[in-house]
Parts: sequence; structure tokens; C-alpha cells
Amino acid sequence: MSNITVTERKPTVEEYIQLRNSVGWKILQNDNIKKGLDNSIYCVCVEDQDNIIGFGRIVGDYGTVFYIQDIIVKQPYQKQKIGTLIMKKLMEYIDNNCIDDAIIGLIAISELDKFYKKFGFTYNQDNRFYRYK
Ligand SMILES: CC(C)(COP(=O)(O)OP(=O)(O)OC[C@H]1O[C@@H](n2cnc3c(N)ncnc32)[C@H](O)[C@@H]1OP(=O)(O)O)[C@@H](O)C(=O)NCCC(=O)NCCS
Repeated sequence: MSNITVTERKPTVEEYIQLRNSVGWKILQNDNIKKGLDNSIYCVCVEDQDNIIGFGRIVGDYGTVFYIQDIIVKQPYQKQKIGTLIMKKLMEYIDNNCIDDAIIGLIAISELDKFYKKFGFTYNQDNRFYRYK
């Protein structure tokens, strides 16, 4: 763990694809990935030496709505508190930059309730997420 660094930066498209591949997520088109990363509010990358091993970002409207998105830690590095490191950094941004009444949310599987609860997120049964198509 001694060579692990956390940087406030966007990953490259290649790094983002590599991260998504590592956790088996669907791969999107390069130009859409670039557009998405460019329009993100805040990105954090975690590296071991020069290799990206973790990522997380905040997306939203910079004013009233902020969503935590794409928290990824590559498989061999999971369960070593790197996800926690990423979330702490994102929450630091939120605490320093969001107005009190802003909507701050995320979408996650119930298995991760415990992980996100540590950072103040609780699932609200009444406000279920609806996906189009
Ligand atoms: C979810 C994820 C980011 C967590 O990262 P991580 O570095 O493994 O997490 P940490 O080591 O910081 O774990 C912090 C706590 O959350 C718990 N936790 C982490 N992943 C968990 C999982 N998949 N299921 C249940 N609990 C989990 C840990 O047990 C730990 O609990 P503890 O503090 O009581 O020991 C990582 O497993 C991952 O990339 N998963 C695949 C992609 C994904 O699903 N991302 C989330 C999208 S919403």
C-alpha cells in the first residue's frame, strides 16, 4: 500500500475503460466516455505506481444536484480501504462545495448499503429509482 496515491484528475478514456472492464461493467463508446468525463464535476483517481487502480466521480449541475458515480476499485485491490479513500475525497469536495439544500445522492445495489452508510447515505424506500428502457 505504500505506493498508493490519490489524485484529483480525470482518468483517460483508456484508463476508464480499463477500470470498467476490471469490474465487468458494460463498455461504452469512446467519444461518449470522453464527453462524460469532461462534463464530470469532480474526479478522483487512485494509482499504484503509475497504474490506475481506483476511481470515483461526482456528476451533476454544479448547483443543486450532485451524484456520486462510478466508484471502482480494481479486483486485486478491493477490501483494502481504497474505496473508502475515494469516497472520503469525494465527500470532502461535497462538504466544501455544496449548498445545504443540494440533492446529494447515488445509486447502488443493496449489498453496498453498509459501505455507503459510513459516509452518510441511506436508502430511502419511498424515493425509488426508475430507469428508462
Ligand atoms: C464497492 C467498492 C468500490 C468498494 O471498494 P473497496 O476498496 O473494496 O472498499 P473498502 O475496502 O474501502 O471497504 C469499506 C467497507 O465496505 C465494505 N464493503 C466493500 N465492498 C463491499 C461489498 N461488495 N459488499 C459488502 N460490503 C462491502 C467492506 O467490507 C468494508 O467494511 P468494514 O469497514 O466494516 O471493513 C469495490 O468493491 C468495487 O469496485 N466494486 C465493483 C464496482 C462497484 O460495484 N462499485 C460501486 C458502484 S455503486
